[in-house]
Amino acid sequence: MKFFVDTADTAAIKELNDLGMVDGVTTNPSLILKAGRDITEVTREICQMVAGPVSAEVVAEKAEDMIREGKVLAQIADNITVKVPLTWDGLKACRALSGDGHKVNVTLCFSPAQAILAAKAGATFISPFIGRLDDIHIDGMDLIADIREIYDNYGFETEILAASIRSVNHIIEAAKIGADVITAPPSVIKSMANHVLTDKGLAQFNADWAQTGQKIG
Ligand code: E4P
Repeated sequence: MKFFVDTADTAAIKELNDLGMVDGVTTNPSLILKAGRDITEVTREICQMVAGPVSAEVVAEKAEDMIREGKVLAQIADNITVKVPLTWDGLKACRALSGDGHKVNVTLCFSPAQAILAAKAGATFISPFIGRLDDIHIDGMDLIADIREIYDNYGFETEILAASIRSVNHIIEAAKIGADVITAPPSVIKSMANHVLTDKGLAQFNADWAQTGQKIG
């Protein structure tokens, strides 16, 4: 399973990347706003830091405008993946951009039907949004499972990029189903290291060690 980091916060990406935890990065207009940085400048910085795919999202709504924006974004670095929304125009842009040799991440996917269309349009990645489905009381993980089954049935090569991840459980469940990639905020990835029994065990070891009166080194 590949780990993408869902942020435009370069310090957070660097911390995880230095540990070898980052296979790629996803950004979106909201994350660019949160970072408070110029999209070209921050995306270039991320692309220089991370070897894997870095998704940068178009904001136009018409296919021809998305294609133009996608080509501009793709010039930022060789490892740019152009992110387009799962609309009819987005599918047209996906087909055109992937036909030109660009990697394309089709985002805002909320149904298996949408995922089939993205695969047929040549998407490199499909991004089903788990958390936003959970928010409206639809099990987002069912969508990951459905897409996995359908893509496997027909040998679609589009990678399932489980997105809108809000918890460690989301990552574990997506991994069990066989999502190719997860993209998660840095805080969620870091919290994978936490366990109450680890904390409890460490406290006990430290207390017992103090009683030995010994030092190492
Ligand atoms: C994916 O590429 C999106 O940037 C992201 O996962 C959206 O997550 P959110 O629903 O928490 O905003």
